[in-house]
Amino acid sequence: MRQAGRYMPAYRKLRERHSILDLCHTPELAATVTLQPVERLGVDAAIVFADILLPFEPLRLGLSFAAGEGPTIARPIRDAADVERLPSFSIDAELGYVFEAVRLARRALPDDVPLIGFAGAPFTLASYAIEGGASRSFTKTKRFMYQAPDTWHLLMGKFAELVGTYLAGQARAGAQALQLFDSWIGCLSPDDYRTFVQPHTTRALRLAAAAGAAIPLIHFGTGTATFLEDFAAAGGDVISVDWRIPLDAAWTRIGDKRAIQGNLDPAALLAPAAERDRQVRDILKRAGGRPGHIFNLGHGILPETDVAAVRAVVDLVHGA
Ligand code: CP3
Repeated sequence: MRQAGRYMPAYRKLRERHSILDLCHTPELAATVTLQPVERLGVDAAIVFADILLPFEPLRLGLSFAAGEGPTIARPIRDAADVERLPSFSIDAELGYVFEAVRLARRALPDDVPLIGFAGAPFTLASYAIEGGASRSFTKTKRFMYQAPDTWHLLMGKFAELVGTYLAGQARAGAQALQLFDSWIGCLSPDDYRTFVQPHTTRALRLAAAAGAAIPLIHFGTGTATFLEDFAAAGGDVISVDWRIPLDAAWTRIGDKRAIQGNLDPAALLAPAAERDRQVRDILKRAGGRPGHIFNLGHGILPETDVAAVRAVVDLVHGA
């Protein structure tokens, strides 16, 4: 996740001349960025360069990325009329540039480096659409959810369908695994997760699996330790966990039928080498050499990260 990004000089160089949306909209550039971390870091897989919020453009929510401030949505969703007004659109026509980036990246990658496609999960998309950007407390989202549950479910249903179909399209274009990002799901109580989110995530993952053939689905969330069983029950062949729970404890709760991804704190990459390496080894020890562990960060890489530190972790994991 966020393998590329501002911590990587080759990416920053391209960003001097192109906005993030330009990079996403231009499949040749997106494919180039997709390959950068593979070349520089030696990671085992690539994730296509795109963003979870791109579907907001054809939904006409007014997506932009302000420098240093993250995403902004000019026309957030605030009531039932806004939900009903959401246009239906052809994913192939409006987001086909992502499929093209998948095709180009797949062609350019070495055969033994799989390509991951991705999308935002219904809840995380809804939170951006309702808040109008990033949020700390998600109060607008929760107020919407509690005040207008029917409209909430209508919106989540629309996002589930959109995301499932979009993921399936990436699979058809050549993605060999699909990751669903529910980045902010940890703000909910276990009860609210089950009531307001879980059925929609399940639907999105089923749609992706049905049309996307038998490729692995990675279900990503952060802050899920309080409802990990329910989060895993929503679906996914691989469950991604963050550093707030030890990897072995999480795996026990997920069950040994499922693979696990995680879970280094991205902040460990800012620590002195000895402390960073200690944390990496601890995760590997907790995985115990069992098949089905994908070593990863628990969340996106921080912009102030030194590329050499990331490379050192990749090498340490590969040498273990
Ligand atoms: O290797 C890669 O970078 C893959 C492409 C990728 C991006 N975004 C490009 C991007 C992926 C997988 C994402 C996922 C994404 N986008 C998520 C889910 C993962 C997570 O981190 O939780 C979320 C929540 C978003 C929404 C988003 N996009 C935010 C909050 C921001 C701004 C904050 C930040 O960290 O910069 C973005 C911008 C963004 N998307 C950047 C990149 C590389 C960095 C901004 C830039 O280049 O100016």
